[in-house]
Amino acid sequence: MKVIRDAEEMRRWSRGQLAARRSIGLVPTMGALHAGHTSLVDASVAADDVTVVSIFVNPAQFAPHEDYETYPRDFDEDCAKVETLGGTLIYAPTAESMYSKDYATYVEVERLQEGLCGGARPHFFRGVATVVAKLFNTVLPDRAYFGEKDGQQAAIIRRMVRDLEFGVEIVTMPTVREADGLAMSSRNAYLSPGERERALSISRALLEARETLEAGERKAERILAPVRKALSSLEIDYIALVDADELTPVDRIEGRVMLAIAAQIGKTRLIDNIQFDAGRKKESVPKPSKTSRVGPTER
Ligand code: PAJ
Repeated sequence: MKVIRDAEEMRRWSRGQLAARRSIGLVPTMGALHAGHTSLVDASVAADDVTVVSIFVNPAQFAPHEDYETYPRDFDEDCAKVETLGGTLIYAPTAESMYSKDYATYVEVERLQEGLCGGARPHFFRGVATVVAKLFNTVLPDRAYFGEKDGQQAAIIRRMVRDLEFGVEIVTMPTVREADGLAMSSRNAYLSPGERERALSISRALLEARETLEAGERKAERILAPVRKALSSLEIDYIALVDADELTPVDRIEGRVMLAIAAQIGKTRLIDNIQFDAGRKKESVPKPSKTSRVGPTER
């Protein structure tokens, strides 16, 4: 498997691909690849001429008390998986090369980074947005693939790409689950059998909520109340029903929404969500402002 560790070399390789008119797909990961990650690699292999999988446990998105040191790492196994799937290359920069001692530049996606996981992990999304921006600048992808499993992250990346005009198409892929419904996550490896059993109540509650949504319920509280009840024995960080792009809470379900949950199971923080599209949102018609003097003929 071809592995590149240096940013300049990575960009040279990508420029070569683009000069040869090959489209580049990027799958950003922190490694310890499971079926959730490999579904993203499959999607890129199917759609792009070349597929770059980045493997980088990004220190900027871990707080000092979090699991940066112990985060699961299995580089050789990851390389073998990417090779089998038909990925073209692994980009695995070192932490020292990504963040020099005098590193100073961060990307913040205002508002979207503050709610949901941003509450308990205030450092997190600026670390994610920054590293993804850096990866885009070195890998120069046409498309980049993200999982719906991390719904807030995907919304933040979409907004960053739009606002900073990266010109990268963001593709989001459905959450891959274990046979019993548990969302696949590298952190599932931390769960004891008893904790894993308790964790299952999260996906069960979400899948029941999906059925209620599909049956036509449109009042947020009627969706949220049974979920809160089903999870009342867990240590919940949040249970929220939000607009899938703005990440703001909704009272009524219109357009695309996300029901998102974060819970602490023992020492492990787990997140999961479902997304649901209720169809067209009512357009909010801007009221004409009395003080505005700019009429159509003056533009
Ligand atoms: P990581 O947790 O390794 O996840 C890499 C990608 O795999 C993310 O887009 C994530 O949403 C997706 N993914 C994880 N579990 C999934 C599942 N069960 N089904 C579908 N997709 C799944 O997310 C990160 O790394 C980092 O924050 C990163 C974007 C790489 C920046 O450091």
